[in-house]
Amino acid sequence: MDYKTLKITSTQAESILFDLYNIEGEASELPGEVDFNFRIKVANEEGYILKIARPDEDANYLDFQQKLLQFVAVNGDNLIAPKVVLDTVKSPISEITDAYGNKRKVRLLSWVSGRVWSNVNPQLDDLRCSLGEQCGLLTQALLGFDHTEAHREFEWDIAQSLWTMKHLELFSSEERTILSDFQLQFKSYQERYAQLRKSVVHNDANDNNVIVSSDLITPRVKAAIDYGDAVYTQIINDLAITCAYAAMGHKDPLTAILPIVKGYHTTCSLEEEELKYLYTAIAMRLVISVTKSAINKVEEPDNHYLLISEKPAWEVLKKWHTVDSEFAHYSFRDACGFMAHPNQKRFKEWTLENSFKLSGLFPRTVNNKIEPIDLSVSSKWIGHQESFNNLDLFQFKVKQLQKENPNKIIAGGYLEPRPIYTSTNYDKLGNYGMESRSIHLGVDFWLPEQTPINALLDGEVVMAVNDAGAKEYGGLVILKHSIDNFEFYTLYGHLAVAGVLKHKKGDFIREGEQIACLGGTSENGNWVPHLHFQILLSLLDYKMDYPGVTYLNQVSVWKSICPDPNLLFKSDGLNAVNSVSNKDLINYRKQYLGKSLSLQYKEPIKMVRGAGQYLMDQYGRKYLDTINNVAHVGHEHYSVVKAGQEQMALINTNSRYLHENINELAKELIATLPPELNVLHFVNSGSEANELAIRMVRSSTGERDIIASEYGYHGNANMCIDISSYKFDGKGGKGAPEHTHIFPLPDSFRGKYRGVNTGAKYADEVQKQIDIVHEKGRGVGAFIIEPIISCGGQIELPKGFLKETYEKIRKVGGLCISDEVQVGCGRLGKSFWGFQLHNVVPDIITIGKPLGNGHPIAAVACTEEVANKFANGMEYFNTFGGNPVSCAIATEVLRTVKREKLQENALQVGAFLKSELKKLSEEFKIIGDVRGQGLFLGVELVDGAMNPLPAQADYLTSRMKDYGILMSTDGPDYNVLKIKPPIVFTKENAEELLLYLRKIIAEDFMILK
Ligand SMILES: Cc1ncc(COP(=O)(O)O)c(C=O)c1O
Repeated sequence: MDYKTLKITSTQAESILFDLYNIEGEASELPGEVDFNFRIKVANEEGYILKIARPDEDANYLDFQQKLLQFVAVNGDNLIAPKVVLDTVKSPISEITDAYGNKRKVRLLSWVSGRVWSNVNPQLDDLRCSLGEQCGLLTQALLGFDHTEAHREFEWDIAQSLWTMKHLELFSSEERTILSDFQLQFKSYQERYAQLRKSVVHNDANDNNVIVSSDLITPRVKAAIDYGDAVYTQIINDLAITCAYAAMGHKDPLTAILPIVKGYHTTCSLEEEELKYLYTAIAMRLVISVTKSAINKVEEPDNHYLLISEKPAWEVLKKWHTVDSEFAHYSFRDACGFMAHPNQKRFKEWTLENSFKLSGLFPRTVNNKIEPIDLSVSSKWIGHQESFNNLDLFQFKVKQLQKENPNKIIAGGYLEPRPIYTSTNYDKLGNYGMESRSIHLGVDFWLPEQTPINALLDGEVVMAVNDAGAKEYGGLVILKHSIDNFEFYTLYGHLAVAGVLKHKKGDFIREGEQIACLGGTSENGNWVPHLHFQILLSLLDYKMDYPGVTYLNQVSVWKSICPDPNLLFKSDGLNAVNSVSNKDLINYRKQYLGKSLSLQYKEPIKMVRGAGQYLMDQYGRKYLDTINNVAHVGHEHYSVVKAGQEQMALINTNSRYLHENINELAKELIATLPPELNVLHFVNSGSEANELAIRMVRSSTGERDIIASEYGYHGNANMCIDISSYKFDGKGGKGAPEHTHIFPLPDSFRGKYRGVNTGAKYADEVQKQIDIVHEKGRGVGAFIIEPIISCGGQIELPKGFLKETYEKIRKVGGLCISDEVQVGCGRLGKSFWGFQLHNVVPDIITIGKPLGNGHPIAAVACTEEVANKFANGMEYFNTFGGNPVSCAIATEVLRTVKREKLQENALQVGAFLKSELKKLSEEFKIIGDVRGQGLFLGVELVDGAMNPLPAQADYLTSRMKDYGILMSTDGPDYNVLKIKPPIVFTKENAEELLLYLRKIIAEDFMILK
């Protein structure tokens, strides 16, 4: 029928509404595949949806629709769903005659307000779980409802989906393979599938049929709308459809749908039998979708609406085809709270009655004791990652351990998160950023090369391969053991390849017979010899490299498929040691540590290892660190660690004894400084450095008055706090002390003076403070400022400001201090020290954070004149300042900056990052300003009226954490993102940071209204 003759205008809809329902409202047209739908807005009400059918619409079908909604309205406690509105003669279905004389059925339903799922960004796990919950609730509400129309032939019903087999010719051969694989799989289990529970279900929870609450931080699914596809079918099909759509657009569709399955199960209990078919049912919905699209492309090439989900459907289908169906099944079981592997319980029960001696596995072993070895990410025994990577050293350490424990076998490792696997080789990009395959699934027995390995119990060889290519195992054997009413497998990795290849698939190895001997390092992907022993309840679909390690988010499934090998041996030494939980750590801190200590993130992280620009938590999750300018040359930089360790092993005393380390460090620092700054004092922290600087001011000038910037921070000691507006003007502060004089934050973006050429204006503000000091009859001691004001929100000093200010201060006899605690040592790229950006030379500079790369060492550099005046006869003694260990460390930090050209790196990567951030600011108006130098950048979030947006900045940092990226905020309004990573930060790291910033800045909460 001609679309033009069917069309109803909004005005016509409004009069139909009035005639039939006596409701006055404003109609606007909505897209629809079958009906002509209008949204009706009515003052002070949620409103309605008016549905005008095509003339040929089946009355029975419409009756089914209305009865279904009426059933839900009665039976659906807690359920929001459109309600049927009766017309003026109390009928749920009315009729009109349109302008062409066609009879058309009309229905009116209540409007469900909220956002359509497809418009919601992001769609996080909690939201997806609530999607499952709502769909489950709806199915639950529909139990017991029936109608003849629900049993119609319907192409969108998964149970009827085999019709798609007739259309394979519409696809490429690659596509055909995927489609027919799923179709044949589905066909093969028709008989069992037909027995599953059935009901009338919604059958179409697609992106446009799901309504989400308008809460932007914790959105929840409110309702499913559009019941036009409801049908009587297997209940599991309803969940499958929800999953099929909600999997679209995710890197890892299986992980994306698990919260939905979990949510569905909480409101509509799924049976274990049903879960067996979910994987294929999901696939078949997608198969229907792409087949429909392909047919429509031929029949109705212009109907855009019908083609809308073709591309994402294909994307998921292709990914889904690579997901192991059995693994998916276990994941669904796990999500529903069933044991992931159906045989897990049986296996455990069997092991209660069957125990094995280690000597059964290792015939040369006389006793069965284990000496545990800790190779976890937090293991002190491993020490630095480099020590782990050094094969000879590692082997030596294992041998030493063996020597110390002659009657024991060195072993361990089940469910251990290992740092070795957190290298990028084991990374994949998941739904929440980079994921590392780091959790070990077997037990490793560290024994010499050629140690014979025997079968613990009779087994059939199902795999005997050289797995060295996959770098996982080298020689690998898997034996199948058939026990009473189930089977399990044992896996032996890192065997000598020649012995392994003597076995063929199907061979039988009896208990006590040799399987093979342990392989040497060269044939085992450069591992120190050891047996990787793992239990498998399923082989899944692996032909070679059966996983020996897994991702953190899959552990609960994998530990069910691969149970603890110690269930066989029951050795005390193999029992996992439980470390203190984060909760206990927090509780202890709360009770016994200072009450004003804070913790980062709502859910604090326990960091156990650092490596370069990364930090790792106890589970082996790697975080990209954009916060830590203390770990200047990279967390736990090997040469810095070594320098400290080596010196610590020799001597650590105070600086009253001669030692070259203090001189060496002084030389390294002096080489970076202008000739005027040629005397050094070493201290332990930035605060101590500023404290000493202020003492120097007093002894040099005899004055106590200090001029400092608004929102500046200079340390936690008494005198430092007294000059830190960030503290005394902040929470708990009591304002500026008598001798401190604060001038306005020289912020050209949102400060007192804005735009270009503000340097002189802010310098005049300093002059005002000088005048105030003089009015009080006193003199100015010093002016202190950071070259980029960090806590103030990464504020770059305006051009000319510092030069002009220094002149004003010096004119009245004051000293100039540059606080380089945050920005020093090459971070700014263009210059080694921050003051050098401004073409000035201070009288004193204070150096802190980066100097020790995490070790507490700091310094004060000053002119000879200042130093001489300070040396007034009173000894300056500092117990720890300048000790040989700290000096060795700081010297190595400075040498590393030079050797690895890290200042140049900060310049290049910083410039790239800043220019990309600027591009981002053009695209997203919420970014008001991008500023900073090198790898010391700030991104300020404001609204259109320049109001700060701290909630958005907080949201952003917490969402970035979800993707494994650590960021912080600061500034007077906490609306500035600070970027100040270790300066080994690479362009790739910057790209990763930008990728997720862009993603999150586009989320609903970040969009300016
Ligand atoms: C600019 C500035 N100066 C001094 C300090 C004090 O250094 P510390 O914490 O090492 O005592 C800090 C610390 O954050 C700082 O940011």
